[in-house]
Amino acid sequence: MTKYRIRGGKPLHGSITISGAKNAAVAIIPAALLVDGVCRIENIPQISDVTLILQILQELGADIRTVNRTTVDIDCSHIRNRQVPYELARKIRASYYLVGALLGRFGWAEVPLPGGCDLGGRPIDQHVKGFVSMGADVDVRSGLICAKVPGGRLSGGQVYLDMVSVGATMNIMLAAVLADGMTVIENAAKEPHIVDLANFLNSMGANIMGAGTDVIKIRGVKQLRGGTYSIIPDQIEAGTYMAAVAAAGGDVLIQNVIPKHLDCITAKLVEMGVDVEELDDAVRVRRSGPISRTNVKTMPYPGFPTDMQPQIAAVLCLANGTSVLTEGVWDSRYRYVDEFRRMGAHIQVDGKVAVIEGVSALTGAPVHACDLRAGAAMVIAGLAAQGVTEVDAIYHIERGYENLVGKLAGVGADIRTITVPDEDAKAQVG
Ligand code: EPZ
Repeated sequence: MTKYRIRGGKPLHGSITISGAKNAAVAIIPAALLVDGVCRIENIPQISDVTLILQILQELGADIRTVNRTTVDIDCSHIRNRQVPYELARKIRASYYLVGALLGRFGWAEVPLPGGCDLGGRPIDQHVKGFVSMGADVDVRSGLICAKVPGGRLSGGQVYLDMVSVGATMNIMLAAVLADGMTVIENAAKEPHIVDLANFLNSMGANIMGAGTDVIKIRGVKQLRGGTYSIIPDQIEAGTYMAAVAAAGGDVLIQNVIPKHLDCITAKLVEMGVDVEELDDAVRVRRSGPISRTNVKTMPYPGFPTDMQPQIAAVLCLANGTSVLTEGVWDSRYRYVDEFRRMGAHIQVDGKVAVIEGVSALTGAPVHACDLRAGAAMVIAGLAAQGVTEVDAIYHIERGYENLVGKLAGVGADIRTITVPDEDAKAQVG
């Protein structure tokens, strides 16, 4: 079993370069299924979710060539196998994008129900509603989402999303680009990765208007052609390192970011007494004074991102005074709280609200990464804590953070990956 061992209490100094956005990459890669020709995709993050989605495409018959560390060429002109491998697909949430992409291209898809972080119920009824409005028959059986268009080609539809859903917005967009006629998505999500997917598809010949607003119109085209596209920087990876500096103190230049995408995070950190300076494609984050309490509510973009909720909680554990955190997107995103308590944090949770009473110091402890962002939050707490923290289940973290240990060590953190024999790990659990 591998873990991260962190000796906390060292302020961070230097610079960190942000990788391509996970939640854009895991939609743009399946989108290549819609294209006749070679898609060269640049700024791909090296994370396990991306490896998995590339592997799934390869199993379907895509020709994938690695150009360099962050660039791949994907050619889906000769897809021969449409059976998505069960074991791979159920490990990753984003495998649901294969439904939209395969349905759009072939009028037929059978995809295992997706996995991903356990954040409470994760229904896909809005995705299904979108496909049905475009003329597909959809049902779930034997662990598979089965979708079929009787005539072979989807027709444009009108979809009103009952709640703002990133996945449904992207999936309906994927299905609609090759449909016959115009599709309109109302109450669409506006996250930066929605705009990135639309820009990718448009650069391959699609006709998508309004991405980034709450009404997206997609006029179907006959064919998409190959091209080159570079994925945007990861908003949440950048926010995670901003929170790490806020918690541990120091002065770090976070490079290769789109500062506008970070405004919702910057605003809260500034309220907490952190100094954030926006540059063209970087933010400089500094903290030396005390952390002030604040309240945070997560919301769809441009609100404060739910994917930053555990990381901001780590910072608030060390604030002067009591903060109230409200989760506005997921039913259950506080499973990490018991792990923080091991480190001396004072947190009470009631439903979607967590009340965090700041303490003067956290103390290092063995903790568990319950999911991707909770794992990142454990690392942040460990960087700020006195003594040694060991974070296990780091495979969750590696799903979404490229070279987390190297990037943090590069700004002076005392963090390394250690391997302990499985028997020792079992003995600790027992
Ligand atoms: C995406 O999940 C992200 N995952 C999540 O990031 C992120 O937390 C979430 O968007 C919100 O920003 C990927 O992009 C792969 P939603 P998604 O559909 O698309 C409800 C991370 O840490 N809903 O926007 O699955 C749902 O239950 C991960 O990187 C329905 O009820 O989320 C939730 O309450 C974790 N029916 C809300 O909408 C539906 O059909 C938002 O979910 C769809 C969603």
